[in-house]
Amino acid sequence: MEYKPKQFKLEDTTIWKFKERGNWATHKGDYRGNCPPQVPRNLILKYTKEGDIVLDTFCGSGTTLIETKLLNRKGVGIDVNVKALRISKERLNFKSNNLYEPKLIKADSTNLRGIVPNKCIDFIFAHPPYANIIKYSDNIKEDLSRLDVNDFLNQIKLFSMECFRILKKDKYCAVLIGDIRKNKNIIPLGFYIMNIFNQTGFTLKEIIIKEQHNCKKTDYWRQNKNRDFYLLAHEYIFVLKK
Ligand SMILES: C[S@@+](CC[C@H](N)C(=O)[O-])C[C@H]1O[C@@H](n2cnc3c(N)ncnc32)[C@H](O)[C@@H]1O
Repeated sequence: MEYKPKQFKLEDTTIWKFKERGNWATHKGDYRGNCPPQVPRNLILKYTKEGDIVLDTFCGSGTTLIETKLLNRKGVGIDVNVKALRISKERLNFKSNNLYEPKLIKADSTNLRGIVPNKCIDFIFAHPPYANIIKYSDNIKEDLSRLDVNDFLNQIKLFSMECFRILKKDKYCAVLIGDIRKNKNIIPLGFYIMNIFNQTGFTLKEIIIKEQHNCKKTDYWRQNKNRDFYLLAHEYIFVLKK
């Protein structure tokens, strides 16, 4: 197994594109809506040092946690769905020299009281569902992917307050999110979420545009003759400072 990316360079500008999804270590692109490992790798290397506590509040298939294990950080992954935690656990089953084995917790990231203490986290990576664009469960009440946009944003407000509570002062939280299209028009989920975090008290450090490749629906829409809109091909990474 290759434990390191063959080709990797730290990003230097606010436009990120990863045509090839990284497949080093146990990374795989088969979890719906997962992110390329180059994203958490870049953020972890820029905003944390070895031994820091890195929390992924929507850990899915464990992409961030694999990177924390490879990069000698203390990884913590939270997901509301045990299926995701099971996949993460499998993918974290490899040998490394890291002294810290990542921790996995089943919880609702909009309410982490009693689970994560105040001011103890060095870096948060958050890749929430994009409202109900991809459904991750049918009957988990706290699953944000079951909510329409308004209810989703109300929960994101609570989530941003939790991030503010648990993060150490002067530390960063990065949110990966894309806009969505409903009835052929754009709902700027990204900007709504950016504003919510600002209103909660975070300072906006960066807006990074991440090009989106390999989307499941792209081919369908590309061929659809009734399409009168551009295909969405970017997402945002908002880097926010407490
Ligand atoms: C976009 S995916 C994250 C993918 C991840 N970055 C990866 O690379 O695999 C969003 C995840 O959020 C989880 N989720 C939804 N609502 C949640 C909540 N309230 N608290 C914690 N996790 C939640 C879903 O189960 C899903 O795994």
